[in-house]
Amino acid sequence: MTQLGIGLIGTGFMGKCHALAWNAVRPTFGGDLSRPKLTMVCAGTEAEAEEAATAFGIGRWTLDWREVVADPAVAAVSIAAPNHLHCEIALAALAAGKHVWCEKPMAISLADAEAMAAAAATAPGRTIIGYNYVQNPLLRQARRLIREGGIGRVTQFRCCMDEDFMAEAATPWGLKDDRRSGYGVLDDFGSHMVGLAHFLVGEIAEVAAVCDRPFASRPVTAGSAEVREVETHDIASALLRFASGVTGSLAASRAAWGRKSGLCFEVHGDRGTIRFDQERPNEIHLFVAGEDPATGGFRRILAGPQHPPYDAFCPAPGHGLGFNDLKVIEARHFLRVIAGAEPAVFDFAEGVKVERVVHALARSAAERRWIEVAGA
Ligand SMILES: NC(=O)c1ccc[n+]([C@@H]2O[C@H](COP(=O)([O-])OP(=O)(O)OC[C@H]3O[C@@H](n4cnc5c(N)ncnc54)[C@H](O)[C@@H]3O)[C@@H](O)[C@H]2O)c1
Repeated sequence: MTQLGIGLIGTGFMGKCHALAWNAVRPTFGGDLSRPKLTMVCAGTEAEAEEAATAFGIGRWTLDWREVVADPAVAAVSIAAPNHLHCEIALAALAAGKHVWCEKPMAISLADAEAMAAAAATAPGRTIIGYNYVQNPLLRQARRLIREGGIGRVTQFRCCMDEDFMAEAATPWGLKDDRRSGYGVLDDFGSHMVGLAHFLVGEIAEVAAVCDRPFASRPVTAGSAEVREVETHDIASALLRFASGVTGSLAASRAAWGRKSGLCFEVHGDRGTIRFDQERPNEIHLFVAGEDPATGGFRRILAGPQHPPYDAFCPAPGHGLGFNDLKVIEARHFLRVIAGAEPAVFDFAEGVKVERVVHALARSAAERRWIEVAGA
């Protein structure tokens, strides 16, 4: 079994998630996967880098991501740093021959995302984007059902993604309000939702969107009377037309009180419907037409070992996987992509298709008209 040196860049919410996944993937899945070894870690501050190195037993840490990318012992790089750094780090890593697991959104600008896809097309390294939700075994089951005609011909797709971490007006101005982080909810949530739409239904060809911000400004620090203008959008709604002709909608908010991980979708077909809510990630609901109306209805399907790779985590059905487990599945997917054992679901080539839709949504909102997605 070969060892794969991992360089981790960013140690916050997602960096920790990647590190946990890298450590868990080999024991969880076993078999002939290469054995990842966290080799070097980089963060924005000494305290964070040192803490991650200690917690995960990583031999070396640095404050300069270029050292990670240049390290001959690093074969694959996890990019879990802020959005505006993704492109520069990914391009440097690909140029150095590394494999790249980049968090979403791919990049801030479409030009950067296109440059990343172009670089990946000729580089020896393999790439994936961190669209972890599509790694849920039940979403794979939903996709299989849709593809195998389990709900008939798809007639409509609807998706919402709501959380409330920006719902409090008194929350101080931060990176999420800074235009350097991107458009706002479109990059944060829109990229996940568009990825999901492509995964379940197919490519989106045309969009019409509106964006909004619930607060025009925020205090510069907690409790301060001085305010700073909010430069991003926390709310977006959109109509979609897929290349297949199917229509749909997206709605997203980072300021929806009470919603914590409200990534919900419905796919309607001419013979049934599938529903999912990420706040209950271990169940999908399936309605199939033709049952006796007196006893028929939505069936709740609980995740279990019959939905691979749930079985690698737990032999008992209904015991449930969590958010971090999705990242372990994603790490295994990446290892198999690197080994040539399976194609990437979202490599940079597929990721840039998502980014084209995200940027079309932003343009549609700015120009108040339908926009065709370039290349769809
Ligand atoms: N896939 C998902 O579901 C998901 C969820 C949350 C965040 N994300 C993405 O993950 C990325 C990180 O988000 P987060 O929530 O973990 O942020 P975070 O603020 O919790 O962590 C950011 C990390 O990057 C480090 N950093 C900052 N500047 C750096 C630099 N110059 N060099 C190296 N490291 C630097 C910080 O020190 C910190 O460790 C973002 O792109 C975000 O969109 C993805």
